[in-house]
Amino acid sequence: MNSMLKKLFLTFTIPALVLTGCSSTRGDSQAADIEPAEADVITERPDDGRTVVGISMPDRILERWNRDGAYLKNQFQKAGCEVILSYANNLIDTQTDDLKAMIEDGADLLVVTAVDGAAISNVLEEAHRQGVRVIAYDRLIMGTDAVDYYVSFDNYKVGVLQAEYVIASLGLKASETPMNIEFVTGDPVDNNARFFYQGAMDTLSPYLESGKLNVPSTQREFYETSTAQWSTDIAQQRLQIILNSYYPEGMRLDAVLCANDSTALGATRALEADYLGLNKVVVTGQDADIANIYNILNGSQSMTVYKHLKQESIVTVSLGKDILAGNTPEYDLIEKSGWDFACSFNTTDYNNGNKVVPSYLLRPIAVSADNIEKELFETGYYNRNSSGLIFASKN
Ligand code: BGC
Repeated sequence: MNSMLKKLFLTFTIPALVLTGCSSTRGDSQAADIEPAEADVITERPDDGRTVVGISMPDRILERWNRDGAYLKNQFQKAGCEVILSYANNLIDTQTDDLKAMIEDGADLLVVTAVDGAAISNVLEEAHRQGVRVIAYDRLIMGTDAVDYYVSFDNYKVGVLQAEYVIASLGLKASETPMNIEFVTGDPVDNNARFFYQGAMDTLSPYLESGKLNVPSTQREFYETSTAQWSTDIAQQRLQIILNSYYPEGMRLDAVLCANDSTALGATRALEADYLGLNKVVVTGQDADIANIYNILNGSQSMTVYKHLKQESIVTVSLGKDILAGNTPEYDLIEKSGWDFACSFNTTDYNNGNKVVPSYLLRPIAVSADNIEKELFETGYYNRNSSGLIFASKN
């Protein structure tokens, strides 16, 4: 919020939100003599006796957002909140309209995974003016003060894990023979995509610089390797063009570093269609989507980075409840929640251009054929029926 608006809203009072979970109603507001420096410049939502959480997810195409939406909805409802859940079909305008409708419908808290991290600041600033709090879920929201917290995984680490897998499986440390790699990175309007890319590039750069690893297409910068909307089809088309242009018979491709599972699906399809070599190409991914788990089991994808989505929603719901109770959670949220999984509180790394957004970050895990049983099946994250069909656990 700019300083003009700040001045304007200093005349408003700070809401006294007295909530346990989402089940109690808002307490009476108190006129407060707040010094400018301390004011949170939040106006008061009318007390309608409801606690409403708006959850805005980017699309239904990816398995994960369906699951994230369901987990978040379920847990907020269990905490006594009313929930409005919407999917934006990857369209900025739809997401903006969804968010406006949530504000109009009395949302007290918005949990938002932005389609385009830089395109929703206006509607969120309006939300903030009306006293609605905002959590950026999984993807950071850029260029605005109107985001209170960020919950995600260590996104840089995701890229590191993908690159480390490539290094280990190609035996790059010991190898004398130069190897070939291509890159399929994420959507440039998703702030996470750069973190994934940077983590991978920083880890691979000694091998790229020394010539142990080559990129025959020469495409290694973020933009030229990016994939609009994380689309499987776009990833497939781009890799097919690369294969047809730079990989004639006899030219070997050793690895395709794909930023996530939807792009990995495109890459495996392109390899099946147009790669002439007989070697098994290392293909990375992220999300542990079920379609990709089958591919890891049948060998057409090498690894994925598994992010325990339920944990991400547990952190978000605890954070949301704490914010709605009028608190300003920091590291103490982790201490008092007593989660049985690792989570860190970060106040340095996620600068959205306007401010460093306080972040809760979970730990991603590399999963390949070697540890898939232990990490995904023995933990109960996925189950298999007697015909071998994989399905996600309800809990
Ligand atoms: C998420 C990934 C997901 C990608 C595509 C990213 O922001 O962190 O888990 O694969 O978006 O939806």
